[in-house]
Amino acid sequence: MPLAKTRVLIPADQIRARVQELGAKIDQDYAGRAPIQMIAILKGACIFLSDLARAVKTPARIDFIGISSYGRGKTSSGEVKVTKDLDSSIEGLDVLLVEDIVDSGVTLTYLIHVLEQRKPRSIRIAALLDKPERRLRPVRVDYVGFTIPDKFVVGYGLDYAEDYRNLPDICVLES
Ligand code: IMP
Ligand code: MG
Repeated sequence: MPLAKTRVLIPADQIRARVQELGAKIDQDYAGRAPIQMIAILKGACIFLSDLARAVKTPARIDFIGISSYGRGKTSSGEVKVTKDLDSSIEGLDVLLVEDIVDSGVTLTYLIHVLEQRKPRSIRIAALLDKPERRLRPVRVDYVGFTIPDKFVVGYGLDYAEDYRNLPDICVLES
């Protein structure tokens, strides 16, 4: 099936510059707290994580957690489950949960609840994108790359039905 047209919303050079700024802010906040235990939420956050991890100078470790919530649609089913767990314990660690986009907030609310039971020293959230108009559950996002309007976006890790993740820009999907 041919892919739908896309329109650039945030070009790659703007993403690059913003990720550097976030890295610098994270370095300030985590001074004296190394290592940072970064956890990327699969699969959407993997490209943001790989750039963010290199933008921080603080020593960091990387792990991944897989969850399912959206299936193939554009809106959340409201049901979240862990499909791939972390490789190691986070007890006593300073966790930075790295997400591609916060939409309804359902995914992060669930995940924070799951991770808090494992007794990390702290949990903070870094999200590349925030779509506050669609929030159903309040979530405190500590580091936001860009706040965007209520549009479905793809690229830089974000997908629609598994396509478009490798676009270097963040694009709006025109339907
Ligand atoms: P939430 O649970 O509604 O906050 O949804 C968060 C998840 O939905 C993100 O991790 C994304 O995988 C997905 N998502 C939400 N909005 C978009 C979008 O505009 N494009 C692609 N994926 C999205
Ligand atoms: Mg996703």
